[in-house]
Amino acid sequence: METMGQLTRTIVITGASRGLGEALALLYATHGRTLGLLGRNRVRLEAVAARCRDKQASVVVGTPDVTDGAALARWIERFDADHPIDLLIVNAGIFNGHGETAPETVDEVTTILRTNLEGAVLTIAAALPMMRARRSGRIAIVGSLAALHPLADAPAYSASKAGVMGYGEALREWLAPDNVAVSLIYPGHMKTAQVAHHVGALPLLMSAEQAARTIKRGLDRGASTIVFPRRLLWLIRAGRLLPWRLRALLGSGTRFHVAKPATDYKQAAE
Ligand SMILES: NC(=O)c1ccc[n+]([C@@H]2O[C@H](COP(=O)([O-])OP(=O)(O)OC[C@H]3O[C@@H](n4cnc5c(N)ncnc54)[C@H](OP(=O)(O)O)[C@@H]3O)[C@@H](O)[C@H]2O)c1
Repeated sequence: METMGQLTRTIVITGASRGLGEALALLYATHGRTLGLLGRNRVRLEAVAARCRDKQASVVVGTPDVTDGAALARWIERFDADHPIDLLIVNAGIFNGHGETAPETVDEVTTILRTNLEGAVLTIAAALPMMRARRSGRIAIVGSLAALHPLADAPAYSASKAGVMGYGEALREWLAPDNVAVSLIYPGHMKTAQVAHHVGALPLLMSAEQAARTIKRGLDRGASTIVFPRRLLWLIRAGRLLPWRLRALLGSGTRFHVAKPATDYKQAAE
């Protein structure tokens, strides 16, 4: 049953060219709904758009990089003028971490922070003036459980997700008088390209489609926080009560490294 979702006529999703963003686009695609799908890879994005159109949704695609604030703002303003945005899903993100022998480089750290934190802030900033003026809409930010449980093997990723969730939580309260809602989404491991180079345990791994359904259910009921899988959340909460050395010892089975691919994440858009 869709309640709030019935009013959600226009949805923008960043990072819609694959993974969770693609699964969300396909789940939301329906007659009477307009989707704005963003990603850098036009070929993949057009393929997702075609499948959404097959489901009778109206789709507009855009390829601004989320780190390019000017291009992103231009696209979002133009789209919003024709299709006032009801739901903005801030989902685009990248993952990296320490390699088996070498630590993550400063360049990798900077790229992660720029994409996951600054890119999310720029996406929100582009849509916010229109949403505030209309006094309506919802911003859904895809963070990660790594925001609640920083990963020793992926420090920059953990910092980027803690940062964006802190930003979103502050924004949620600040925006309340404007009647613009903010939902914070903390997923666990999902089987997408993001984890393709993750070597090690992926506890309670779920499909992007499962995750998308959980997120949509939460957003349909207007949830301000969506955290899953719940079992991991309880383990994280219990772990936070322990001294960090003991928590690290108990969590040692979940350590991993990132296999640095020949074509790295920067080239993923090509
Ligand atoms: N997979 C997991 O286990 C997991 C767990 C917790 C949270 N998350 C979060 O879930 C979100 C979706 O990730 P995913 O697992 O679906 O990964 P994915 O399959 O790698 O998809 C990432 C998406 O982000 C887009 N993107 C990346 N950098 C971008 C940039 N600079 N500008 C514009 N778009 C960009 C990519 O599109 P293009 O390549 O076409 O640009 C792609 O559509 C991310 O925020 C991720 O951190 C993932």
